[in-house]
Amino acid sequence: MCGIVGYVGSKDALPILIESLKKLEYRGYDSSGVGFLDHKANLVVRKSKGKIRNLEELIRTQPVPFAHTGISHTRWATHGFPSDINSHPHTDSKHHIAVVHNGIIENYQELREELKKKGVKFVSETDSEVIPQLIASVYKGDLAQAVRQTLLRLKGTFALGVISRDNPDCLVAARVGSPLIIGVGDGENFIASDVPAILDYTRRVIYLQDGQMAVLSKTSQELFTFDGKKVKVKIDTVSFSVTAARKEGYAHFMLKEIHEQPLVLEQMINLRLKNGKLTLEGLGISDDSLKNIRKILVVACGTAYHAGMVGKYIIENLVRLPVEVDTSSEYRYRDPLVDRHTLVLAVSQSGETADTLAAAREAHAKGAKVIAICNVVGSSLAREADGILYTYAGPEIGVASTKAYSAQLMMFYLIALKLAQLRKTLPPKRSKELISQLTNMPSLYKEILRNTQHIQKIAEANSHFGCFLFLGRHVNYPSALEGALKLKEISYIPAEGYAAGEMKHGPIALIDEYRAVVCINPQSHVYEKMASNIQEIRARKGNVIAIATQGDVQVKHNADFVVEIPLTDELLSPLTVILPLQLLAYFIALKRGCYVAHPRIFAKPLTVVSGPSMLGPVRYLHPGNFNAIYRLNTHRQSKRHHPARH
Ligand code: AGP
Repeated sequence: MCGIVGYVGSKDALPILIESLKKLEYRGYDSSGVGFLDHKANLVVRKSKGKIRNLEELIRTQPVPFAHTGISHTRWATHGFPSDINSHPHTDSKHHIAVVHNGIIENYQELREELKKKGVKFVSETDSEVIPQLIASVYKGDLAQAVRQTLLRLKGTFALGVISRDNPDCLVAARVGSPLIIGVGDGENFIASDVPAILDYTRRVIYLQDGQMAVLSKTSQELFTFDGKKVKVKIDTVSFSVTAARKEGYAHFMLKEIHEQPLVLEQMINLRLKNGKLTLEGLGISDDSLKNIRKILVVACGTAYHAGMVGKYIIENLVRLPVEVDTSSEYRYRDPLVDRHTLVLAVSQSGETADTLAAAREAHAKGAKVIAICNVVGSSLAREADGILYTYAGPEIGVASTKAYSAQLMMFYLIALKLAQLRKTLPPKRSKELISQLTNMPSLYKEILRNTQHIQKIAEANSHFGCFLFLGRHVNYPSALEGALKLKEISYIPAEGYAAGEMKHGPIALIDEYRAVVCINPQSHVYEKMASNIQEIRARKGNVIAIATQGDVQVKHNADFVVEIPLTDELLSPLTVILPLQLLAYFIALKRGCYVAHPRIFAKPLTVVSGPSMLGPVRYLHPGNFNAIYRLNTHRQSKRHHPARH
């Protein structure tokens, strides 16, 4: 839930660590810090509560010397409230070893008590401080060895960066359950929680795996298991460009990512639909097995869960196969009924959401095949699943998920069509028509985005409302949930999504002139039903913002505001309605002066577990099927050494 960066090379580490850290601020932003080894190998640490700009201010008043080895951290507090002291890096008592940590050390109390008995004094309230203290307590001149011994004592999840004043040209890293990549430069190496952090310096990365540690110098990368066995190094080249991780003139990443959606969908279609033929490379399941599935189960959280809910409508409609959708955090604790005839689709943008990982493992342990629908290449979920369908939407840096959602929807359409073809549940003509409309979707997206100013005006005219309802029916009921989630998370306005038919069972009591109600009603077989709901809201003086199909005259008489979307097959309408919903949320938040880039409390991905684990403490090397990873756009290289730069 935090972001970490490390550097070892010949350049001045400070600007690299700060600039790279800023690209990880989406992971946490309640405090930050840096630790360096200066030219006399002194350990220098600066840390500060608040955003990274506070840290920069501190460094301006307390300058740091030139250093070529360092670590940095941006925090999202779990153990210990946000404060200077609780910020990372943490050091041992002698100030020889510094550590940045992302994750949770579950047995930290036990380790803390053990160390206290040996006279170690702790200064913070964090779980993380036990790590440098433990390393120092076993250190006998070999940093890698001391880290290795420590790793074997830790229970929980962690990604670590470690430096020591006795080893000024060495950076040690390790991971279990929290993401960490190594960036391989020319005469320099990096560690980071996510690829965008280091894209300005290199596109060559090593995806460190659970249960691995890395020992880096400026010219070498050595990988080991925690019990000391050497691991072969594989270097991948990241396919997306540096600009993918920059705002490129947009005010916020969220707005940029909303506007990237036509391209994302176009790329997905080009990759997966060749001459009208569907290719789901990565699926990892034979056509015969797909034909024999008896049930599909979708597990996901938040926005990805809403995509899964849309997936249920689509698959059940097109494939006539039962689909269950569960939030991962519920699924994993309810002893679910799955077996080898169940296909589990685990959906996650990041592939690191702890509950979704746990749910996927639970289903896998019960014999189900698990396919990940995932955006981040090489993520934990992608590695552990039996098959992986990448959405390749590029880095999603905005905390509010936008392009990942439309990409997940697109993937569900493609999966449904593939299954329908295999199981012969769809007349070829209908299949062709849907494929043709999906192929045209990027043009429709561009058309809707040309309407941004109109949507902005509607957003601004309604931004004073203190409560919003989002209503939809059938395939757009999940769209209502997603619209409400988008608004809540960036504007903090209480917002509820409802299946419109449920209104009469209680929620209608909420409607009066102080409520804004977003009614999602494109042309469909439930159009008239939804139109009646709009009448009921009008009768109670609710303020109606309708999302309707171009040319819908009726809605103009009944709604206060109308956003028009192009006509599509009703099953595909969740793809078109989501754009206005994302833009409404964005512009309402902006108008209310909310900090869209860093909404309060929330950071992503949620690698913190939502409660005690049924599986016991997470240990390294989780059970799971580590099948081949399908990196369609990446290019593997074998390990290379690069000459040091002098
Ligand atoms: C972001 O807008 C979402 N609000 C959030 O719910 C997210 O979808 C959820 O945390 C799951 O993340 P994942 O897709 O990376 O697993």
